[in-house]
Amino acid sequence: MSKKDAQVFQLLFTLAEGLGLTHDRDLAQLVGVSPETIQNWRTGAVGELKPTKLAQVQAAFAARLAALRERAGSSTSDLESGMTHLDIAPEANPSELQRQLRDRMHYDYLGHRFLYFEPQGALAWENLIGGGYEQSTWLSGVRQSARKWLATGRASDGSALGPIAASIGVGRRGRTRGLDVISLGPGEGGKEVEILGALEAVEATDPPPWRSLTLVDVSISLLMRAALSARRAVASVPFERAQVMAICADFEEGPLDFARRLPSERHDPDAGRRLVLVLGNVFGNVRNEDTFVRQKLSFLTRPGDLVWLEVGLRSERPDLDPVYRLTQPSETETAAEANRRLLLEGPYRRWEAALGRRPADLELRVWVREDDDSATVPGSYNFCHDLVLTSERRAITMLYSRRYDLAGLRRWLEQRGYEVERVEKVADTRQVDRVAHLLLRRTDHA
Ligand SMILES: C[S@@+](CC[C@H](N)C(=O)[O-])C[C@H]1O[C@@H](n2cnc3c(N)ncnc32)[C@H](O)[C@@H]1O
Repeated sequence: MSKKDAQVFQLLFTLAEGLGLTHDRDLAQLVGVSPETIQNWRTGAVGELKPTKLAQVQAAFAARLAALRERAGSSTSDLESGMTHLDIAPEANPSELQRQLRDRMHYDYLGHRFLYFEPQGALAWENLIGGGYEQSTWLSGVRQSARKWLATGRASDGSALGPIAASIGVGRRGRTRGLDVISLGPGEGGKEVEILGALEAVEATDPPPWRSLTLVDVSISLLMRAALSARRAVASVPFERAQVMAICADFEEGPLDFARRLPSERHDPDAGRRLVLVLGNVFGNVRNEDTFVRQKLSFLTRPGDLVWLEVGLRSERPDLDPVYRLTQPSETETAAEANRRLLLEGPYRRWEAALGRRPADLELRVWVREDDDSATVPGSYNFCHDLVLTSERRAITMLYSRRYDLAGLRRWLEQRGYEVERVEKVADTRQVDRVAHLLLRRTDHA
């Protein structure tokens, strides 16, 4: 056999192994020949493939790859029909979440992950952002931050214009790094689609070795929407930049096993970066920010990796925050407020219905907590959302929604090994700064 033919056979066997065909009999079955024929290819007894055999091998490999794409839910017909696949971690199985909810119903804190995992909660969230929530303002804030942070080229002082662009090396001579984007709590995923669009705009001309997006959410309904939108957004980009993993998992209390699947796990640490997205004030919703940063963010990031936080801002005039109105007695309720109430009451109502209980008298109480163990970042306060069970004379906390002072938050993050590289504020339609996007870089082994 010539050296060239030997190389072609070597290539064929390597490809077959990569596709999981490690035994000769599996390869033989796939391409429709006998295991002895495969042996002859290996030993060099057969020097080259006849045209019909070659066509058979090509067709078999193409079919195997198409099947893998089908399984990954990224075939064109699946994307058109809306069929997509999710991977579900055991702690986020809906019946397991229902069990956790039942077990905690007698605690004083339930937490925000129970708000959306059932379809009714997911629909209430979609109604909430559909009207009166100024969602288009927040989406445009993400788009603008992404554009700035991905700007290529150099500023007049020689520094790279966009910190994300600089970190992955786009727009510079030299090797571009791979990028794993991981979004914790993407909801329906509109912001992630904006970020994918901004990344593609710079990476198309300066392609990285890989780019992946991993969406992590406990809500199957919302995750399915996010996965489909993201997969559709990358449907026509090259394979290396088109990977979207949709993981139904609990990022606050679960083991984050999905991290083993990130492409950056398979490469040298300096060959890629991770960008962890925590958008829509999910950071201000977690039970304890310190535990979240030390145990979860630090598990997902390595020194040099980036974190994108979108947080609610402390305002000079808290009464300008739409949630403030809920802390005051009122006879009227706007449609957005009614949706918020339904979202917060939902888990309790469904739990009592499942037990066949009569509907209890419930009141939603929103109150401001500051300088206590629910608002430990200096300068922050917490719009704490409780359900008051009037006849039982007790309350259950359903949601923390914190607002941050930027200087206090910056110091707090730096003490935990995260440098704040950029801040972009976003104003609402009344020109009040309500939200800030922070780009953090992990500096050390925090
Ligand atoms: C407010 S919503 C969506 C926020 C979205 N990032 C945005 O900016 O619009 C929060 C999302 O986080 C998810 N979530 C909350 N806690 C979670 C947890 N511990 N693990 C996984 N997902 C969680 C919810 O299911 C929900 O989809």
